[in-house]
Amino acid sequence: MKVAVFSCKPYDKRTLESACAESDHLELHFFESRLSSETVSLAKDYDAVSCFVNDDLSRGVIDQLAMYGIRAIALRCAGYNNVDLYCAKAHNIPVFHVPDYSPTSVAEHAVALIMALNRKTHRAYHRVKEGNFALEGLMGFNLEGKTVGCIGTGRIGAAFARIMNGFGCRVLCYDLNPDENLEAQGAEYVDLETLYNRSDIISLHCPLNASTHHLINQTSLAKMKDGVMIINTSRGALVNAQQAIDALYSGKIGYLGLDVYEQEGKLFFEDMSDHIIYDSVFQLLLTFPNVVVTGHQGYFTDIALEHIANTTCANLEQLQQSKDHKFVRELTASA
Ligand code: NAI
Repeated sequence: MKVAVFSCKPYDKRTLESACAESDHLELHFFESRLSSETVSLAKDYDAVSCFVNDDLSRGVIDQLAMYGIRAIALRCAGYNNVDLYCAKAHNIPVFHVPDYSPTSVAEHAVALIMALNRKTHRAYHRVKEGNFALEGLMGFNLEGKTVGCIGTGRIGAAFARIMNGFGCRVLCYDLNPDENLEAQGAEYVDLETLYNRSDIISLHCPLNASTHHLINQTSLAKMKDGVMIINTSRGALVNAQQAIDALYSGKIGYLGLDVYEQEGKLFFEDMSDHIIYDSVFQLLLTFPNVVVTGHQGYFTDIALEHIANTTCANLEQLQQSKDHKFVRELTASA
């Protein structure tokens, strides 16, 4: 089976090649380009495509893939907000993802953002490099005893809640489907309003969909404590970035940690250091001393990459071998 692998960086190529080294069925071809209406023609003459978070799998692109006879879409990520599952289903193209490659990798990155913002590690690093050992402006707070709100307690949110529990924080959770095990481990489920009112830190771990788009906006922010810390390692469009900037100016948001950004597709995963960034909202965010942005690296650990590659190859193998197209990780249009 010939597979066109889009958005493929050298580290992806290494892990995928190693994962399918034993396979007699898979022939992977690697493209650095993102999948989009401009690049979809690269998928001609292939049997399947493998895609990542910022690839465009909207209706027009999937229609084109179906015309080329593509038999499966293998996502190398957990989130699937970039895929029109209804369109894929209409064309009978199975879509599968890698839901649990390493929830702790993202949860730990959320904690890293909290720690950096709280203890101002990003600023201290530069000061010390320049021989400036003054502490003024670097004061943090003890996490122990603080209230942490966790929105979405699936695989990543639950891992995050457990870590914060270990710090001695009071963990308030909100999810459409509460997790009894997590409750037994000390987390407390509350309604969203209560979570907003009481949390010192709020971390987002729900998927992006119509009901969560711009969940963090001026209305929700107004319900939060002054100086709240917001952490987003889920999907950029959960936060209305312009309204977050207004809240940074007013002091409503005291700290903002982002691993994802609504318009990240034009920026992230590329070296843009030689280019002018034509996104004034993003540029403005970078000017705040109490904002830390990372470029969608929450997932980026050795274990996670290995699991992503292994699961992707296993799914493609299964596609090759099964007649009824039943996948362990197949997504349905109602998912
Ligand atoms: P999951 O599917 O295990 O958990 C998501 C949870 O959110 C579920 O418990 C669900 O009931 C809950 N939920 C759905 N709608 C909600 C709503 N309106 N309000 C509150 N909760 C809601 O997903 P997982 O693996 O925990 O991943 C969460 C998100 O993390 C993904 O959707 C993806 O966007 C993001 N992610 C980010 C990565 C990164 O590198 N920064 C890597 C992997 C995932």
